[in-house]
Amino acid sequence: MSETVHVALGDRAYDVRIGTGLIAAVGSEIEPLLRRPKVWIVTERKVAGLHLAALEKSLEAAGIATAALVLPPGETTKSWPHLIEVVEWLLAEKVERRDVVIAFGGGVIGDLVGFAAAILRRGVRFVQLPTSLLAQVDSSVGGKTGINSTHGKNLVGAFHQPSLVLADIDVLATLDPRDFLAGYGEVVKYGLLGDAAFFAWLEQNGPALATGDRALQVEAVRRSVQMKADIVVRDETEQGERALLNLGHTFGHALEAATGFGNRLLHGEGVAIGCALAFALSARLGLCAQEDPSRVRAHLAKMKMKRDLSDIEGDLPDLNALIGLMAQDKKVVDGQLRFILARAIGDAFVATDVPSDTLRGLLAEALRGWR
Ligand code: GLY
Repeated sequence: MSETVHVALGDRAYDVRIGTGLIAAVGSEIEPLLRRPKVWIVTERKVAGLHLAALEKSLEAAGIATAALVLPPGETTKSWPHLIEVVEWLLAEKVERRDVVIAFGGGVIGDLVGFAAAILRRGVRFVQLPTSLLAQVDSSVGGKTGINSTHGKNLVGAFHQPSLVLADIDVLATLDPRDFLAGYGEVVKYGLLGDAAFFAWLEQNGPALATGDRALQVEAVRRSVQMKADIVVRDETEQGERALLNLGHTFGHALEAATGFGNRLLHGEGVAIGCALAFALSARLGLCAQEDPSRVRAHLAKMKMKRDLSDIEGDLPDLNALIGLMAQDKKVVDGQLRFILARAIGDAFVATDVPSDTLRGLLAEALRGWR
């Protein structure tokens, strides 16, 4: 069972294959891209323990030799020291411009390896094999690559499109349920930003999808990737419309920064809470119906996902500190925060003129627990 979404970016066009059994079929998928029968895999310990042997076996069965670099898991790997490690390893391995590097892991590995591929010899090709739901529906598609800085998340990077994306749905079964649901936060985001019918479909099918229905998972990933591909083709370098994909992210990134980019709040959890806040802000500004934020939170609750600031364990910084963290957002233009707000479920837009007292009032209330 597999579906293909084509990302029509001219001479940088590529396919995203979504389905089951793709790791087993990886040799025949990758072989047409190769100028010599060898690939370099960069992965992390957790994914390597679960799936690296299967990937290597599959490539070797197709006559493709492999070399692998296994990094530590976790967000801190998306950093300058590990970027240096990857680039120096690829250089030591004498990877050439016409070779192909494989990013085998979740969003951290995809972003890091994509960035290493972007700067190695001024750009080598790479294939994304995303192993988390979040990476399958978002970060592996569209060519955003990069690392974090002490100043904030994803502040150093480049646009570098992969040559192929293989999203094997089978690997989702090995995800920790919390990681799966964090990725689902990004799936919900697509419905909320641009497709009300998809959000209604998720309301209907989300619980079965989360308990492992593969056909529903393929469909959810396909629809998410299709929406992302359509937006990326129209606005590859985020001059306008692509910013819609950041629905929930201005709040989410600030919350991730406030909680140390770690286990207290996963990226997709921050996005889910951020989407709930973006709809609450939209309703407060009279942009969308009062029922919309409740419907968003009801779906997150049904999926047993975090949706309120009080769902985050431990103390959060005060209002001013939180607003200060938002000001590091990449969407800040001329010092002005830009929010993705909504006129309705499925109808998001970029807003530059959010009154700061409305924002402060909303966040103060959210910090108090909506009393
Ligand atoms: N994750 C947002 C984007 O790729 O534009």
